[in-house]
Amino acid sequence: MRLLLLLTLSGTALTAAAQPLGLPPLPIPADNPQTPEKVELGERLFNDVRFSSTGAVSCANCHAADTAFTDALAVSQGIDGLLGTRNAPTVVNAAYNETQFWDGRSPTLEDQALHPFLNPVEMAMPSHDALLEIIREDREYVRGFRDVFDVRAEDITIEHVTKAIAAFERTQISGDSPFDRWYFGGEAGAISPAAQRGFEVFLTDGRCVSCHMIEQDHALFTDHQFHNVGIGINDIQNRAPELAKAFLIAKNEGIDVDVAVLGDADTSHLGRFAVTDDLSMIGAFKTPTLRNVARTAPYMHDGSLATLREVIEHYNNGGVTPAEAPVNPYISGGIRPLELTEQQMDDLVAFMEALTSPQFEELAEPEPVAGLRPQDAASNER
Ligand code: HEC
Ligand code: HEC
Repeated sequence: MRLLLLLTLSGTALTAAAQPLGLPPLPIPADNPQTPEKVELGERLFNDVRFSSTGAVSCANCHAADTAFTDALAVSQGIDGLLGTRNAPTVVNAAYNETQFWDGRSPTLEDQALHPFLNPVEMAMPSHDALLEIIREDREYVRGFRDVFDVRAEDITIEHVTKAIAAFERTQISGDSPFDRWYFGGEAGAISPAAQRGFEVFLTDGRCVSCHMIEQDHALFTDHQFHNVGIGINDIQNRAPELAKAFLIAKNEGIDVDVAVLGDADTSHLGRFAVTDDLSMIGAFKTPTLRNVARTAPYMHDGSLATLREVIEHYNNGGVTPAEAPVNPYISGGIRPLELTEQQMDDLVAFMEALTSPQFEELAEPEPVAGLRPQDAASNER
């Protein structure tokens, strides 16, 4: 069956040829087909530090292969050590996301890649043109864009750049985890008894699967929706109505939402509301995948939980950390105290550890990072 897939797909789409166990077919936009040359060009762009105002930051600084395409920090660090407000999600399997970013403010990988170049706490380029000038003066790039897009140097646009980057990102997919081999592949011993018990908790008492979804023949561990699970919101809870109002006014006046949410922690915690203007979405964020999650600590949109065990305790408390903190009024209906036993919580951790794909198995588990909050950072005071 897998061999057949290989045969029928090879030659049409580079990455679909190697469809890993547990993943659905890779969605590839009709106007941006995968080719090996484009992927190679995209990889070079992804790693090029010259596309930052200091010449020191590339996409790969925050999405590094040796930390499963994250940065292992609570919140990301851009030019001059400036801190943003959010935890860098992995780029691995982002090709399957229905929206990009924690609040889904970007619809595609191509669109997403427009933003970090210009964001003042990320790469801080003055304009996309400044980046295109670097490309047009680089012979290798000029040759690469000509071969891939059939354009002359002066006709290279930012859309060509983002298409190549997105094509590279679409090669960063991973399945074939022990869980996939057990659940989809029928390999009885692929995961430990503890992980198997943890899977039961995930489906039943933990109620995790209602958002971190598993389908008949694949699992992305996300419903692609936005929920308030009680992260960061306690920092702004009492001020949320005023903050929301002030944000709407600023948005009407034309502020850049990408700059606003990554530049200010309070605004960041507004979550999906900042995109939809819907008050019920305050503090709601996109359900992230759980693939390779044992390699991508710390957790949550603000990196405030250091370990998988802390995440489970947060859910067990009914969406609050610490346990005695007040439950926020915007919390998702799916979140309530779970009363899991110690054993069930340990088993859930074992289950999530079985979601690591072979290419990340060798990576060390990241050191727990304390939940450094952007507002604690002196480095942003300039
Ligand atoms: C300074 C660190 C930093 C740099 C540089 C950076 N990113 Fe990110 N990236 C982040 C953070 C933080 C987020 C989450 C922001 C948010 O959700 O608001 C993110 C989100 C993403 C996502 C969305 C993933 C998801 O699951 O929603 C993709 C894809 C991505 N980045 C790709 C890139 C590309 C391509 C570049 C270079 C053009 C880049 N990043 C540069 C930190 C960085
Ligand atoms: C109501 C939907 C919902 C339910 C139920 C739910 N989650 Fe989540 N999960 C989310 C959302 C949304 C986030 C991101 C929240 C944020 O950052 O503010 C998240 C984040 C996580 C993360 C952090 C991932 C990362 O990369 O930072 C882990 C781990 C996790 N959930 C595991 C679980 C487990 C285990 C359960 C069951 C005990 C569970 N979730 C139940 C929606 C849900």
